[in-house]
Amino acid sequence: MQMKTLRERAQVYAESALSELRECSSTTQIEAFYASHLGKKGQLKALRNELKTLTPDEKRDAGGALSAMQKELESAFAAQQKEIKKATLDAQLATEWLDVTQQVPRNTGSIHPLNIVQKQVEDVFMQMGYTIADGPEIETEWHNFDALNVPQHHPARDMQDTFWVGRDSQNPLENYVLRTQTSNAQIRMLKEHGAPMRMICPGRVFRNEATDATHDSVFYQVEGLVVDRGISLSHLKGTVEVMLRELFNDDTKVRFRPGFFPFVEPGLEVDMWWEYTDKKGQKQGKWLEFMGAGMVHSHVLESCGLDPNEVSGFAFGFGLTRLVMMRYGIEDIRHLFGTKPRFLQQFA
Ligand code: PHE
Repeated sequence: MQMKTLRERAQVYAESALSELRECSSTTQIEAFYASHLGKKGQLKALRNELKTLTPDEKRDAGGALSAMQKELESAFAAQQKEIKKATLDAQLATEWLDVTQQVPRNTGSIHPLNIVQKQVEDVFMQMGYTIADGPEIETEWHNFDALNVPQHHPARDMQDTFWVGRDSQNPLENYVLRTQTSNAQIRMLKEHGAPMRMICPGRVFRNEATDATHDSVFYQVEGLVVDRGISLSHLKGTVEVMLRELFNDDTKVRFRPGFFPFVEPGLEVDMWWEYTDKKGQKQGKWLEFMGAGMVHSHVLESCGLDPNEVSGFAFGFGLTRLVMMRYGIEDIRHLFGTKPRFLQQFA
């Protein structure tokens, strides 16, 4: 039997290599195929090395055939490799696709009722040209009491009412309290900006008292202050009426009584007529004390470097927490500062 020529063996090899190539379906397989067939130490190279042992005629014949075969294998390899890449990508897309238009149910939280009502109050006053001010919650004794004309031995300064942060000094500018009222903002704003002034300051205040359904040691107030030339009690009355009618309804009735606060003279208590349905389902009405107010005391103006003969003003302060409870018929203040989403989510 005659030995097969190099050309014949190469032919057989090429066919088996091509069918092996068609079997490759992954990147790893096709890379292994390249190394064992087309690489530097591959089988094609081994066949080529045999050319050296042939006569020139045989060499020409077999060499041409080997080159053609190499070309064919290389192009088949490239096509197969492309095929595998595409299939891999398709498989990846099929498993990793993302529908960016899909609606995902999400727990978005809700706005706290205090913030809802605070925003409504701010809107009412912004329409009347007021600035929304802010003040520190840790305040000096001077800004919280002295500058507001609260006498040195007033019971409000007592340990029972006030959270003292440090009361070591004779100088009230060096002692600190958790502010017991937002009225400190009157002092801060007047000292910083002077007159004319038209501002409200919503904020958190602190009182050292027992907690029950209507009292908490932390609650929110809104302070109001207007100082300018020729400000009178009628401006205060008009402003308070506008505010309450905006926040409740157009025929909300308002009543003014004399009241005492050291930083206003005269001082007023403002009541509003409150209609509600009692436990038996009967409509009822009563006067509710809504806020403290009055004409800014001359001592306060002087503490802030203003001349009471030139400017005058009015101030008021009410409980924002209380307003929220009235607006929504919330009976227990503790609900507002609890952290139960089921309660808090009802208001948004
Ligand atoms: N600061 C007073 C309080 O906390 C309320 C008030 C403010 C009264 C402004 C008069 C003027 O009770």
